[in-house]
Amino acid sequence: MIAQKNLERTKKTLQKHGQDHLLAFWDQFTEAQKLNLLEQIESLDFPDVERWITDIIKNPDSAAIRTDFLPPLSYPPGPENPEQQQKYAKAVKLGKELISDGKVAAFVVAGGQGTRLGFDGPKGDFPIGPVSNRTLFHIFADSIKAVGEKYHVICPWYVMTSPLNHDRTIEVFQSNNFYGLGPENVFIFQQGTLPNFDFGGKILLADKAHIACSPDGHGGSLKALYRSGALEDMENRGVEFLSYFQVDNALINIFDPLFIGLHALDGAEMSSKALTKSGPKEKVGNFCLIDGKINVIEYSDLPDEMGERRNPDGSLVFHLGSIAIHIINRTFVERLNDKNFGLPLHKAVKSIPHIDETGIIVESDGIKLESFVFDALPLASKSIILETLRHEEFAPAKNATGVDSVETAKQMIVDRAAGWLESVGVTIPQKPDGSVDCLLEIAPGFALDREGLKEKLDQIPTIAPGATVYLS
Ligand code: UTP
Repeated sequence: MIAQKNLERTKKTLQKHGQDHLLAFWDQFTEAQKLNLLEQIESLDFPDVERWITDIIKNPDSAAIRTDFLPPLSYPPGPENPEQQQKYAKAVKLGKELISDGKVAAFVVAGGQGTRLGFDGPKGDFPIGPVSNRTLFHIFADSIKAVGEKYHVICPWYVMTSPLNHDRTIEVFQSNNFYGLGPENVFIFQQGTLPNFDFGGKILLADKAHIACSPDGHGGSLKALYRSGALEDMENRGVEFLSYFQVDNALINIFDPLFIGLHALDGAEMSSKALTKSGPKEKVGNFCLIDGKINVIEYSDLPDEMGERRNPDGSLVFHLGSIAIHIINRTFVERLNDKNFGLPLHKAVKSIPHIDETGIIVESDGIKLESFVFDALPLASKSIILETLRHEEFAPAKNATGVDSVETAKQMIVDRAAGWLESVGVTIPQKPDGSVDCLLEIAPGFALDREGLKEKLDQIPTIAPGATVYLS
C-alpha cells in the first residue's frame, strides 16, 4: 500500500517544480504501477532537474564555450627524431609488460541507440567482417583472445550497455558462448539514464506510468563503472588501465603497447588517440588546450574562424580530431567517483516518442541530455595525445550507407589488410584505378599487426585478382 503521506509529499514536490503532470493518470493505475511510478519520481534529483532546465534546456547559450584555447602538443604516429625513437621503444616495451602483467583491460561503450545505423539489435551484433561476416563484438573478442594468447594472460573485457539494449546484449553474448572468452572474463553492465524533456522543461512520459528516459551518454560510463562494481572487479584482478573504445569502430587496436606505454611513462591519468582531420568541418571533436588542460570541443561548437585557422605551411592549427580512443586509469575513475563528480550535460534535440496530455502516444522533437567521456579529460592530472593514422585505426560504422558507414568500414578492413600484406612483401591485385582487387580479411588470431604477419608468411597464399581471402 502506498502511504498517503508519501504520495502527498511527492505531489507537493512535483507541484513546486512544475512537474505535476507526471501524476496525471494516477487514478488509472494498479497498485504496482503506482509504486513503480513513485519510485521513478523519487529517483529524480529535483534541484538537479531545475538546474538542467534553467542552465541547459531553456538556455540558448548553454553550449557557449571559451575561445581562448590553443592547439595542444601531441605525439606523432611514429618517432620523428632519435630522442623520440628511444622514447617510443621504451614505451612499447613498457606497454607490452603492462599487458603481460594483466594490468590492461578492454572497455567498450555500447549503450547508444544506434539510430543512424537502423539495425534491429545491439550495434555490436552487426556483421562487419567483409569475408568472415563476423560481428563487431565477435571481432573485438577475437582480438582480445589473440592478445591474451600472445601475452599469456587473461584480458578482461568490460562492456557497457544501457536499458535500451542490455538484455539483448546479454543474449547475444550468451548465444555466442561469450566468443570463447569465458563468461567470467566479460563484465557486462548498464549505464544510467536521464529524463527527456519538452522545450518548456516539462519531463516527458513514455506512457501513462513511465517517465521517458534515454541513456546518459558515453560520459555516463565513468559513473556506471563505479556503480556496477566493474571498478572493484578491476581492482580485484589487478587491472590498472582501461582501453576505452566505441562499439562501432571496426578497426580498433584495443591493446596498443605504444599508446599504453606512452601514457604510463608520462604518468597520465586519461589519454587520447587523435587523427589529423580531413578538413576544418570534419564531424569529430577537436583537441584544444584550455588553461593548460587538454579538452575536446565538439565540431559544432568550434567557431568557424578557429576551425579554419591555418599554419604558415597551410595545415590546420586545430588539426587534431578525437576518435574516442582513450586509456583511462582505474584510480582516476575511482577518484572522480569518490568526489561525487559530475560531467557537464549537453542537450540534443531528437525525435522522442511520448504521450500527450490526453494519454495518446505521439512522436515529436524533445530534448535529451547526455554527458561525453572526453569532458573528463580536463579533470585528469595529466593527459597525452598520440596521433594515429585513420586507415589503421578508425573505421566508424555509424550509418548503413554513405559516409562513416558499414560500406566504408568494410572497405577499410580490406584496405588495411591489403596494406599490411603488401608491407610484408605479399602482392595484392589491383584494379586499374589502383584500388584493391580482392576481398581480404585478417583474423586477429592470425595476426594482430604487421609484425605478426611477418611470422606467418609461409601460411599466406598467392592472392589472385577478385579472390576472397580470410586469413585465420
Ligand atoms: P554515438 O554518438 O555514435 O551514438 O555513440 P549511437 O547511439 O551509437 O548512434 P546514433 O547517434 O543513435 O546513430 C558513440 C559511442 O558511444 C556509445 C555508443 O554505443 C557508441 O559506441 N554510447 C553513446 C553509449 O555507450 N551510451 C550513450 O548513452 C551514448
